[in-house]
Amino acid sequence: MSKIILTGDRPTGKLHLGHYVGSLKRRVELQNSGEFDEIFIMIADAQALTDNSDNPEKVRQNIIEVALDYLSVGIDPEKTHIFIQSQIPQLTELTFYYMNLVTVSRLQRNPTVKAEIQLRNFETSIPVGFFTYPISQASDITAFKATTVPVGEDQEPMIEQAREIVRKFNSVYGETLVEPDILLPDNKACLRLPGTDGKAKMSKSLGNCIYLSDPADVVKKKVMSMYTDPEHIKVEDPGKIEGNCVFTYLDAFSTPEDFAEFLPDYENLQALKDHYQRGGLGDVKVKKFLNNVLQKQLEPIRARRHEYEKNIPEVYDILQRGTKIAYEAADETLKEVKNAMKINYFDDAELIKIQSEKYASEE
Ligand code: TRP
Repeated sequence: MSKIILTGDRPTGKLHLGHYVGSLKRRVELQNSGEFDEIFIMIADAQALTDNSDNPEKVRQNIIEVALDYLSVGIDPEKTHIFIQSQIPQLTELTFYYMNLVTVSRLQRNPTVKAEIQLRNFETSIPVGFFTYPISQASDITAFKATTVPVGEDQEPMIEQAREIVRKFNSVYGETLVEPDILLPDNKACLRLPGTDGKAKMSKSLGNCIYLSDPADVVKKKVMSMYTDPEHIKVEDPGKIEGNCVFTYLDAFSTPEDFAEFLPDYENLQALKDHYQRGGLGDVKVKKFLNNVLQKQLEPIRARRHEYEKNIPEVYDILQRGTKIAYEAADETLKEVKNAMKINYFDDAELIKIQSEKYASEE
């Protein structure tokens, strides 16, 4: 069986470090591993509209931002099809059929949906489209016969729901769809990168993000004002590592080479942590190191982004080419789905023949 990747992001803002360690970096590695027959990365504008229906302009403007972020981290359009969800009507059609395979109570139990409803204060005014987006996400995944979905931990319930839909579909209509596997980040600290304020998650609405497109001085400013251990006041005080996001970021980003290059007094991250916990190591020194570590990773990303920013029509060409390929793949799957469901009346010569014979014999 071919190995196929499908993943994507909602275009509601620029992508940040949480996206980078949680998924983008991995995608580039997977892309370059040569292990996959096909890779699709989707800009999920239709999904973004499920909770931004009053602000289509925001979604529209962010499509190019997300595309630039993808290209800048090293997604290569020669190897990966980048496409725009709303331009593939087959995805909506699949969703309509899958809706019959999922109960309202099952959707209500989906932890991601639950959490997001709370986050957005929807209470009783949940848009139906938003409520059903896990079903639409199952369409995104199955339309491309994806075997592998590399996403962050928060998406786990979505993939589980997609797997259930696949099993249900196949048991009712016959083996048609492929059950996807989730691929989570392998570094624990990357599962969910906290915000610079120490809150559980980087989120645009909380204003605690470092963006991939942030200029060097902005990154530095954000790092130097990061949340650490509030009780670590004097340099001599022993400091805490747990919940100290400067160290969480170092867990996620720093390498042994970074120590050799920027902080040779310490052999590795453990040695730095030990000193911090003992006392005698100030936040500023650790933050300066983190800044160096991040700048080293972000510099080539920023440079590549600037190149693509000079040629926006080319970026739209890339999106259009990717969308065309995605359209054809989804169209093929939709045909198979409709055949399995027997809603293929005009293509079913057998149906027409049998019904002709039935009426002929009644004469
Ligand atoms: N829900 C994902 C996000 O919030 C985006 C997405 C839409 C997606 N469809 C998908 C991810 C299918 C993986 C597979 O970023």
